[in-house]
Amino acid sequence: MATVLTTDLAFDQIMVKHPQRGELILVNEDGEVHAYRNSCPHVGVGLDWGDGRCLVAPGELLCAMHGALFTAATGLCVAGPCAGKSLTRVPVRIDEGRVVCD
Ligand code: FES
Repeated sequence: MATVLTTDLAFDQIMVKHPQRGELILVNEDGEVHAYRNSCPHVGVGLDWGDGRCLVAPGELLCAMHGALFTAATGLCVAGPCAGKSLTRVPVRIDEGRVVCD
């Protein structure tokens, strides 16, 4: 069954909870929404400091723990201790103004 992650698309980056997949990072880039598990490929902790924020500049996600920098559109780590690794993408779609995960 599909899970509605948010009914509000007016965000740049938010953190949401999925019942099976856990905490997810959602990034909205001009209406295209990317979703990743909130788990840094360096040591597996969440990217944020508990405030749900990890978008530090347009298109850039930063892990607060050791500074890994990720490209928001791809999830690829481009600098820091896990450069070359990627966040785990979660497939989502936009359905009638809602972000939905199957
Ligand atoms: S846990 Fe993310 S950079 Fe180390």
